[in-house]
Amino acid sequence: MIISIPRERFDGETRVAATPETIRQYISWGFDVQVEQDAGLRADFSDSAYQTAGAKIISDTSTLWKTADVILKIWAPLEEEERFITSKQIIIANFQNKKDINTIANQSATCFALNKIPRISRAQNMDILSSQNNLSGYRAVIEAVNLLPQVVPLMMTAAGTVPPIKFLVLGAGVAGLQAIATAKRLGGQVYASDIRAQAKEQVESLGGKFLQVVDDTNFEAADGYAKETSEAYQEKQRKLLSDQLQKTDVVITTALIPNKPAPRLISAEMLSNMKEGSIIIDMAAAEGGNVEGSQNNQTKKINGITLLGNSNLAAKVPNTASTLYARNILNFLKTAYNPDTKNLAFDFSDEIIAKTCICKDGKLQGETL
Ligand code: NAI
Repeated sequence: MIISIPRERFDGETRVAATPETIRQYISWGFDVQVEQDAGLRADFSDSAYQTAGAKIISDTSTLWKTADVILKIWAPLEEEERFITSKQIIIANFQNKKDINTIANQSATCFALNKIPRISRAQNMDILSSQNNLSGYRAVIEAVNLLPQVVPLMMTAAGTVPPIKFLVLGAGVAGLQAIATAKRLGGQVYASDIRAQAKEQVESLGGKFLQVVDDTNFEAADGYAKETSEAYQEKQRKLLSDQLQKTDVVITTALIPNKPAPRLISAEMLSNMKEGSIIIDMAAAEGGNVEGSQNNQTKKINGITLLGNSNLAAKVPNTASTLYARNILNFLKTAYNPDTKNLAFDFSDEIIAKTCICKDGKLQGETL
């Protein structure tokens, strides 16, 4: 069994899907591991560290792909990589678009979308959305604080008292909760809001103040994800947030709805009433944004407010992010590893495998993406 780890070519991507730590494990299973030259460079994993772990470094991309049984990636293959996909190959990555699986299907290959792993306790150690969004939430606070012209905590000095910075976190899922925890650790005053009833207790347990929209409708789907809210709810939410935004220094937005555009939580009008010098980090920018006018990978100045759109903040902590992502994949493959045959045998009756496999031997599976 040969595993290949390509260098990620997606714009702005710095992470890598395997680390020397996980490669040692694959080698101990009896697999051969090939790493593309400089694949881990931006995450601080050198080619020599991979070689010491037992991997072979390959500079020719075509050879790296064509000789592999299994390819481990952060993102689905880009067009320039698709031509190297071979029949019967297994590709494990984060698949966002249906078009990403066309070539895989045409080549009778198989792919597992790690972003489709069910949010059940047994799969927690394989859950890339949790591991990466947690780091993104942390990094959002660091980005904001870096742009802030003030200090975060309350400071009582001989020259006078400096009040603490007020944060507002919208969407208290994995990323939002880590943003709350990080902002609290820095000494900020944190407010947060979410449509899920459960979020209130989670926000409060981290020391945040929960802003609740008073509404009887439940906008939480059975799988724990959010649904689109009603116009009446949105009106109440806008009123609640408008008041809070005028007192806020840093806003971090993370709200997402599966397979839908991100909910618009902050309009241009709400933005225009905010304090000059405020910072907004919109982590939902790639899905259309929670803030009117935000664009992914762009920083804008609007009436003295800095609006930064970035939906891939885990790439700003590539060493930690790669370490956790690589462990997620290792844990996923552990479920399929057979020590007797020294091979991978996926159990398609297992919920984790069934929900993650979006193309099997060229056949699209279930709902796919
Ligand atoms: P997500 O990334 O899909 O969305 C982020 C947050 O935005 C969510 O908390 C969502 O409720 C909120 N949101 C959506 N629309 C909103 C609106 N209009 N206004 C305010 N907030 C809005 O969520 P994430 O972090 O992926 O979590 C999804 C669910 O999965 C949660 O219930 C979470 O507790 C659960 N989960 C379960 C795990 C497990 O292993 N059991 C692991 C991780 C998450």
